[in-house]
Amino acid sequence: MGKLEQIAAAGHVATHIFPHAGHIGKEQRGPLAGQRAATLWLTGLSGAGKSTLAYALERRLLAQGRLSCVLDGDNMRQHLNGDLGFSARDRQENIRRGAVVARLMNDAGMMVICAFISPLRSDREMARQIIGGDDFIEAYISTPCALCEERDPKGLYKKARAGLIPAFTGVSAPYEAPLAPALTLDTGTLSLEQACERLFQQLCPRFI
Ligand code: ADX
Repeated sequence: MGKLEQIAAAGHVATHIFPHAGHIGKEQRGPLAGQRAATLWLTGLSGAGKSTLAYALERRLLAQGRLSCVLDGDNMRQHLNGDLGFSARDRQENIRRGAVVARLMNDAGMMVICAFISPLRSDREMARQIIGGDDFIEAYISTPCALCEERDPKGLYKKARAGLIPAFTGVSAPYEAPLAPALTLDTGTLSLEQACERLFQQLCPRFI
């Protein structure tokens, strides 16, 4: 069984299904959309600046006439992933669904910017496989934990330290930094504009 089949088999029980092979792929849709779609995957701690950067980049792309869309962990957890918590298994499923949606949107010609903590290398590897290696660009938002905790924009680190949030990433749950990200950005040393520009430049080669 291939990796994707294993992933599907792990969480799903549907049998006797016969997926229909479409005849139109991103190669045909890309020219219509005026771009080659790809997924920029932002990983890093809570408070590292992933969402802020993702939405800034979305605006930057729009200004360039490029269609893009943000998939953000907090937002996705309000609807599609509203049944998931923060156990390792639920986080894996959160990433799997996020990656599947990103893949579908890429196939439809849309650039996708994913902002998920996605703390485990194995889960990000799964996302890469789902999206496709050529279309998956991993960017590590490497803002140190101490700074994220100092910022604590949602007051979650404080709650986690007080024992009110179990398995909080960086406090009581692990974060595995990427080993070979396409880009590493520390929002502690870069301004929002600088960091956004670097992400934009990273995506540029994908436009054509
Ligand atoms: S992931 O680990 O499954 O990739 P995701 O990016 O979707 O996480 O969601 C992270 C957001 O959920 C955080 O920014 C924070 O607002 C919230 N959150 C709530 N509980 C936790 C927790 N235990 N660990 C990390 N983030 C949490």
